[in-house]
Amino acid sequence: MNFQALAMIVEGMTLDEKIAQLMQLAGHFYAENGGEVTGPMADLGISDSIMGTAGSVLGVSGAKDLIRIQKDYLRNSSQGVPLLFMADVIHGYRTIFPIPLALGCSWDLVAAESSAAVAAKEAAVSGVHVTFAPMVDLVRDPRWGRVLETTGEDHYLNGQFARAFVRGFQGHNLRQDTDRVAACVKHFAAYGAAEGGRDYNTVDMSEHQLRSFYLPAYQAAIEAGCQLVMTSFNTIAGMPSTVNRWLLRDVLREEWDFTGVVISDWDSVKEVIAHGVAHDEAEAATKALRAGVDIEMMSPCYVKHLHQLVCSGVVEESLIDEAVLRILQLKDSLGLFENPYRGANEEREREVVLCEEHRLIARDIAEKSCVLLKNDSVLPLETGTKIALIGPFANTGDILGAWSWKGQSEEVVTLAQALESKIDIDQLTIAQGCDVTTGTNEQREEAIRAARGSDVIVLALGEASNMSGEAASRGNICLPLVQLELIATLKTLKKPIVVVLFNGRPLDLHGVLDQVDAVLEAWYPGTEGGTAIVNLLFGDRNPSGKLTMSFPYTVGQIPVYYNHLNTGRPEEFAGQSYVSNYLDIPNEPLLPFGFGLSYTHFSYSNFALSTDVLEKGESLLITVEVKNTGEYSGEEVVQLYVRDLVGEVARPLKELKAFEKILLQPGEKKQVTFSVTEEQLRYYHSDLRFESDAGEFEVFVGSSSVDVQKQKFTLRC
Ligand code: GLC
Repeated sequence: MNFQALAMIVEGMTLDEKIAQLMQLAGHFYAENGGEVTGPMADLGISDSIMGTAGSVLGVSGAKDLIRIQKDYLRNSSQGVPLLFMADVIHGYRTIFPIPLALGCSWDLVAAESSAAVAAKEAAVSGVHVTFAPMVDLVRDPRWGRVLETTGEDHYLNGQFARAFVRGFQGHNLRQDTDRVAACVKHFAAYGAAEGGRDYNTVDMSEHQLRSFYLPAYQAAIEAGCQLVMTSFNTIAGMPSTVNRWLLRDVLREEWDFTGVVISDWDSVKEVIAHGVAHDEAEAATKALRAGVDIEMMSPCYVKHLHQLVCSGVVEESLIDEAVLRILQLKDSLGLFENPYRGANEEREREVVLCEEHRLIARDIAEKSCVLLKNDSVLPLETGTKIALIGPFANTGDILGAWSWKGQSEEVVTLAQALESKIDIDQLTIAQGCDVTTGTNEQREEAIRAARGSDVIVLALGEASNMSGEAASRGNICLPLVQLELIATLKTLKKPIVVVLFNGRPLDLHGVLDQVDAVLEAWYPGTEGGTAIVNLLFGDRNPSGKLTMSFPYTVGQIPVYYNHLNTGRPEEFAGQSYVSNYLDIPNEPLLPFGFGLSYTHFSYSNFALSTDVLEKGESLLITVEVKNTGEYSGEEVVQLYVRDLVGEVARPLKELKAFEKILLQPGEKKQVTFSVTEEQLRYYHSDLRFESDAGEFEVFVGSSSVDVQKQKFTLRC
């Protein structure tokens, strides 16, 4: 439908019909099964008439239900405007993939796009039109419960993943490809920088910091064509994002030319009152609409006050018309005016959702997302090895992680099930050892008995899935004490111990990494997690993941991230006692960004530059030869970093600029070539000019942000 036709529809609507289009209600108002509730359910005081005309619904799915709801809705809908269904399809719909923080550790953009395409297909046949993903909030604080939803601490890598997720969710033609859904990038902006890592807490930073690190990934999603943006709960410089005109109009619409829909987060319009930036709902509605929020999710400020605000001349009706038009354009871009039921199809739902093909894709991605953190010659396990599988995650389906919506723990392949499928039953003993946060003597005694009869102990430990996610920040990021005690107890048996970790954040691994022989970081690996882990433990697949978020030495070190500044008193100032360090812990993280081990080894040689002077408009080619010097085939993530030695402002010690994941057979070598241009060396100056400066640069290639070789070049502008 063209713009004029949509504008005509808006003209034909009453003021109340237009205002209702700006309202999004939770599915539980509509669906018999109640749908998903993902926020506070304050009494909204929503009338039946509003329910019948609200422009969109979140948190409900199922082809049969949504077709029924749409039919009922269209009966009341003047102008034939269809209802829009949105949902949190974050890392899978029913086939659940590894959490995004895990997927980020795969450094595999094709895998990310593939996971989003599968999630979109399962959601679309179930009637969903829009997903509230990708979440691209940059994170440097693992105390924050939502680090699991992002791909990590680097804005360049997060931007690359944001583009891949948007491509996977949306495809190339939303109107025709009804197996895709519209994407909604979130949470705009800088939600991941909450003070103290405490969810919903204050964010305050310079515009220089915001633009340099926190905004790029949202912009990448917009450049990839993302159709919606969700505002964040936090303030920036005291301004709640949901009423931040600078952020939502000047940056998002003027600078980035975003023409899609802006939706508030759940209740965040009304929460402007709690922030102390609105006296009441009417003022919150006024400020949010003026700032550019088109849809109010699950709070009633627009529907209860905009009519009066327009009639009293406080709010211009044209602002409402603009918002409604954008919403109708979104509905039209999904083809909903021609086919309001779009991809909803009960028969296809039965065929597609959680099908074997999707499970195999999820398994492959889980195998790529695990990170081998330690291996003192105990992995891979050999068949015939007697294994004691112990721990609270030995035989549980609670390995999907937060935001795994329709995923069912009963549909998960647990670690125990996968091991039982892999080895003879008489080679495997399973014992709980303890629960996630509590334990009994009987559990411990049973574990000791199981361990005594084994060759290797596989300890499945971690956080329960509700220990991370929204409103799940932790001040202490160690494993629960009872699990650390279990490690110490089993260590006395002097048998090899392999720990498999299930967690939604980087942890303080003291008492783990230093105590056992091998550690495999599995994060929350999803529906096929057990099989993926067993394939890695036995070497059927070689671990290839690399950390995209630093593991702090201890919580007192936070924030800790690789692309930090040098300070005026860097620790390496030889002999100086007054330097920037701690008296009791190192400056470096326990495990750095980009780190991950393999069963094989890779050597780097012949690191060369095509020139040592880069001219503006030209490319500097960087080549390095990588060889698999071990006895296993394996994948290596070759990473390229750059350092600007002298800037107009202080510049990070390293910045990731490129990476390539390569597969090498034993003995095989490959030359990897990167290209760097002047554009990639631009940065925000103190006056926010985004430009490069002529001068000296260092370039690094290697297998992590610390294990690198270095060369120099000059940029000549
Ligand atoms: C939640 C989350 C947001 C989610 C929304 C809808 O509060 O902050 O990420 O998409 O509500 O469920």
